[in-house]
Formats: sequence, structure tokens, C-alpha cells
Amino acid sequence: MAKKKTKWVCQNCGYESPAYLGKCPECSKWGTLIEETDETVSASSIKKQNKVATSKSEPTLLNDITADKSERFSSGYEEFDRVLGGGFVKGSLILTAGEPGIGKSTLILQSCGYLSSKGKKILYVSAEESEKQLKIRAERLNIHADNLFILSETCLENIFETVKDLKPDFLVIDSIQAIYSQEITSSSGSVSQVRECCYSLMNLAKYMNITTVIIGHVTKDGTIAGPKILEHMVDAVICFEGDRYREYRILRSTKNRFGSTNEVGLFNMGEHGLKEVKNPGEIFIAERSEDTAPGSIIVVANEGNRPLLVEIQALVSQTFYPAPRRVSTGIEYNRVLKIIAVLEKRIGLNLSKHDIYVNVVGGIDIDDSAADLGVALAIMTSFRDISVDHKTAVFGEIGLTGEIRSCTQAEIRIKEAYKLGFEKIIIPKGNAPSNLNLKNLKIVCVSRLIEAVSSALQQEKP
Ligand code: TYD
Ligand code: MG
Repeated sequence: MAKKKTKWVCQNCGYESPAYLGKCPECSKWGTLIEETDETVSASSIKKQNKVATSKSEPTLLNDITADKSERFSSGYEEFDRVLGGGFVKGSLILTAGEPGIGKSTLILQSCGYLSSKGKKILYVSAEESEKQLKIRAERLNIHADNLFILSETCLENIFETVKDLKPDFLVIDSIQAIYSQEITSSSGSVSQVRECCYSLMNLAKYMNITTVIIGHVTKDGTIAGPKILEHMVDAVICFEGDRYREYRILRSTKNRFGSTNEVGLFNMGEHGLKEVKNPGEIFIAERSEDTAPGSIIVVANEGNRPLLVEIQALVSQTFYPAPRRVSTGIEYNRVLKIIAVLEKRIGLNLSKHDIYVNVVGGIDIDDSAADLGVALAIMTSFRDISVDHKTAVFGEIGLTGEIRSCTQAEIRIKEAYKLGFEKIIIPKGNAPSNLNLKNLKIVCVSRLIEAVSSALQQEKP
């Protein structure tokens, strides 16, 4: 008989405490600890709960194990396949995480449509939407699949029964937070439920060799159990990001046992679902006008292994607060603070009486230190109220002494800027290309921030 006990569990990271705490000592989030009643699970009850994979396994010589390439199959989208490391691996467990409404169900349903047309038997467990709602969505997405079964069910044990009867090749659980196991007393969406359901699904995927996609919601305030607590159990974590109110979505993997985590996929959410963006270079600067305003600069940032030109904007205005405000959207806040400090100390800008707002246009997050130079120039030009020519692009990391440090994949970045018609590019000296002959593109190599500033403003001089 299992012993009942009460514990407080952080819904963000899974930290457990015997008493209530306002702030989680593990992830520093406030108000995320929720009381859960849980059984102390014994080894025999783990076996009972999982119902599968209970037989003793025998060791096999590595050389005797065969794993051929045909064990992978395409998702139907090049962008998705790239992030997966070349398609789905048979029998793997993939977690697709993202904020509610970002398009996770849409992406997976579209992929299911393709897989079913290739003869795969699919079971789509919809724990959030009714069968009718899913049908309406499928019609909107123009999916007419023969081999796609929909199950509107929230109980894990019932789902298992159906899977064992149907024996699908591909299983989707939408979403992990909406299903529950009868063996656990806490409510669905709690850490214990989410963890237990995922563990059982992992065993099922491996035992029956079914490729399984689990959809998991992420909320910023951590009110529901986050996919963080599942990361160690699954083979790959695919995050779907972007601004819900804008059309572009970025797919990236934060963990992948079968491929690189450097790849990203780009999609466009339209009236009829998601479409791939195959040449993403210029999508974020498409709306930019010819006469650039002060405080705007184009940087060549890398998203995964691909260059992406994005506009960075800054607004520097006189402050009315006792301590000036620094707001950053799309670039890490501490990185912006560092750049402001370098501008004050090495360029001599006095920004202590000014509020500074930095924004990456297009609602995307840039996680590339090469954007430093763009942020510095955007702040500097807004402060001085001067503009940089709209045919100029930059990239480079800024060090604390004001030096410009080299970045990865410089040549690819330069070529992308050239392809999109830029006439001047300011790059770190360490990245100076030795053998690159690009007509009409002036490459300026700089080693200090002050040089970059004077080069960017050169056209201002008569
Ligand atoms: P959805 O896949 O339901 O998001 P999630 O499963 O991540 O919660 O996507 C919902 C949003 O996508 C919704 O706000 C409407 C939008 N959408 C479109 O713009 N076009 C479409 O064809 C579909 C199906 C959805
Ligand atoms: Mg959904």
C-alpha cells in the first residue's frame, strides 16, 4: 500500500519542499509552489503503473546492433526535418514546447497530414480539443488523411488501451498538461502528473517502437508544470517560438539526441496554416523604409547556422525617473547594460540622464553576440540624432575594453548581406576575408568600437 504524503512542488522546475515557500530556491520564481499529494512509489508500483517494459533486458554487443538510416522519416517539411537532424527517428520521443496559441497543434497536425499520405498509421490524441474542432482545423489546413485517427481522451490508461489495439506508427499527445494518470491523485497539469505521464509514454514509445510527439505548453509565469521537468526523459526538445501576434515562427531544438541543436527552422503562419520560409535572410527587414531614422541599424545575426538580417532599433530619451530606465526586447538585458557601459566609458557618451529602449524588429529573440555592434550603433545614433546609411550592415562582438571581437561564420554573413544588396558592411578585423571578391560591397574591418562608430557615420561628412 502506498503511503500518502503532502509536498510542495515548484511547477516551473519540479523542486520539492516539505513546506510552502514563496520563492523557489532552485529557479528563483515566485508563487510557483503548489501543494501536491503524492504516493511514495515503490519499485513494484512503478512496474504496475507503466504496464510495459517490465521484462528484464539482456546486454547486447554494440557491434551486433544494427541501426540503418531508413529508420528516419521526413516530417514533410524541410525546415522541420533540419531541426530534427534529418527527420523523425523511429521510436523516438519528441517534446514540442511553446506558448499557448503559438501553433504547435497546427504544425504537428500538418505533419501528420503528410505522414498519413505516405502510408503511416497515426493516432492523434487530442486532450484539449474535441474531434469536431480538430476536423474544422484539418479542413482549414486542407488535410484529408486516410490513416489519421483522432482520439479525444484525457485519461492515460485509456490512451494506452487504444494504442495497444491500434498499433500506430506515429503517436501525438496534445497536450501533456491536459492528460492524467489514474494512479496519481494530483490534478492534471501538476508536476507529478506531467512527469508520470511522460515517463509512461517514454516506456511505451521504446517498447512498441512508436515515434511519439508530446506537445507541452510553456507559460512565462510558470503556473502550469513546464516542459523543463521533462527534458531529461525525452530524446529531443523542439521549441516553437515567435510573437503570437506576428506571422513568423522559429523552430529550434534545445536538446537532440539525434542531431545538432544549432539548426533552426522558419515558418510563416497564414490563413491556411504554417508555410516554410526557405530564404529567411531578408524577412525581418522587408518593411524597412529607404530613409532610415536615427537609432536604426541592420545586423547580420546568426540563427542557428543561418544568417538573418535584422533591424535593431534604439530610442534614447531624456529621463523623468530618479533612475533612468533600460528596456530591452529581443536582446538579453544584461548584454544591453554591458554595451551601455562600454559606450559610456570608451566612447564618452553620457547616458546617465537618459532612458534607453532597445528593440529587435519582427518580434524575434536574437541570441548572438555578433549583434553587439548593432546595439551599440543604434544607441549611439539615437543619442546623437544622426542616422546610418540604410545600405550599411554590421556585425561584431564588443569586449569590455571597447575592442571588436571576431564572430563565427563571418564569410556566410558577408555573402548574405551582399546577396540582399547592401553596399557596406562593418565587420571585426579578426574576420577580414582573405579571398572574397564581392563587387559593390565595401567591407570595413575594425578593431575598436570607436573605429566602427566613425566608419558607420562616414557618409555624414561632406
Ligand atoms: P495552435 O496550433 O492551436 O496553437 P497551440 O497548439 O500552440 O496552442 O494555433 C493557434 C493559433 O494559430 C490561433 O491563434 C490561430 C492561428 N492559426 C492561423 O493563423 N492559421 C491557421 O490556419 C490555423 C490553423 C491557426
Ligand atoms: Mg494546441
